[in-house]
Amino acid sequence: MLPWYPASWREKPARQLPAYPDPAALADACQQLGAFPPLVAESEVAALRADLAEVAAGRAFLLQGGDCAEDLDAQGGTPARETLRVLLQMAVVLTYGAARPVVKVGRIAGQYAKPRSADTETRDGVTLPSYRGDIVNGAEFSAAARMPDPQRLLRAYSASAATLNLLRALTQGGFADLHQLHRWTSDFVRASPQGQRYAQLADRIGEALAFMAACGFTQDSAAPLRAVRFYTSHEALLLPYEEALTRRDDAVGDWHATSAHLLWLGERTRQPDAAHVEYLRGIANPVGVKIGPGAPPDDVLALLERLNPARAPGRVVLITRMGAGRLPERLPPLLEAVRHSGHPVVWSCDPMHGNTVTSSHGVKTRDFGRIVQEVRGFFAAHAACGTVAGGLHVELTGLDVTECRGGGQNLGDDDLARRYTSACDPRLNGSQSLELAFLVADLLKAQRG
Ligand code: PEP
Ligand code: CO
Repeated sequence: MLPWYPASWREKPARQLPAYPDPAALADACQQLGAFPPLVAESEVAALRADLAEVAAGRAFLLQGGDCAEDLDAQGGTPARETLRVLLQMAVVLTYGAARPVVKVGRIAGQYAKPRSADTETRDGVTLPSYRGDIVNGAEFSAAARMPDPQRLLRAYSASAATLNLLRALTQGGFADLHQLHRWTSDFVRASPQGQRYAQLADRIGEALAFMAACGFTQDSAAPLRAVRFYTSHEALLLPYEEALTRRDDAVGDWHATSAHLLWLGERTRQPDAAHVEYLRGIANPVGVKIGPGAPPDDVLALLERLNPARAPGRVVLITRMGAGRLPERLPPLLEAVRHSGHPVVWSCDPMHGNTVTSSHGVKTRDFGRIVQEVRGFFAAHAACGTVAGGLHVELTGLDVTECRGGGQNLGDDDLARRYTSACDPRLNGSQSLELAFLVADLLKAQRG
């Protein structure tokens, strides 16, 4: 294989990259990015790899979630704070149920690029480039908004830095303190059955904390209760952006992507000989790969050899998104093949992307029941194969949106129009997310026996 360098992906065929009308302007934006500080530190990336190695071994659980596509103009940080809030709640529910640590990773602070199934979109006889995420163009259906604009790379970097700053402030500054459990519940979730179940759990944990304090655990010895480690991730799609933020650690000699702790490859860009895999193979970060129902096990093995020839645990997360219907047929042969190969992967379940349907009003949605069915199927397949059901990957928001059907609020087609704010795929809202966490906690508890 030819040597790797941050731009070696340019020698390979690349799918899903926008056609910029002014390549010189793109190069100029990338040059500016190259002079900016890294967004994450090498030591944090190493910590995540170590945490994921624990997940691969079955001693921890991975929770990854957030928007399908983040909004560059997100109002005052509210969406990021609410995503963090619901992820912290879910993590508490899972930690309690699984009795093992939960590794928390947001689809956040950089999730701005989207793959599309078509290059163009036609409305009322007008054809324009597809919306490819805020880092590329605008969602509004106008020729001006849909033109890919390199200045957006710089705006995406700034927005990522600002979001990261907020996340670091919240997770280190007291907001994530386990003594604040009740405060993580948003008003609209509080009254729901999930909110009440969560309140009972929070009471129980509160009693345990009071007991520990009475036993003499001090502020210092109980430090992990007061702050959490929270990691960021996004799809590694816009390679010029990722290349510009790739840095070499002088002490270690490794190259790192510094736009986020973990990057993943989408279902549409994981061809072993193409540009996106080429970029990811050279960075030391943990990498995810989405695996859909059409992936032959041999292709997945080729990909694992390419991305992790050293077979380092904590390096690769395989995120399966089969669809509830096809999972029982497609997942078991894959689990078997990877287990047989000896590759130490983290298996994570994305129950969202294989279960997207269209409502009777023509709106993209997902049924909570199908999402639950895929998660149950995932756990059952791993139990049967003797592999580790290691994680959950979900599109969610802590906000009170109406994008997915079903769940405790029993949302139907007519409800979807009320608060559908996703620029791309439908997300679970705060109470649906919590409901899913309780279900997964029960599955993990059952596993403990
Ligand atoms: C996504 O995670 O938003 C996505 C596009 O997923 P996939 O690549 O699995 O379709
Ligand atoms: Co999506």
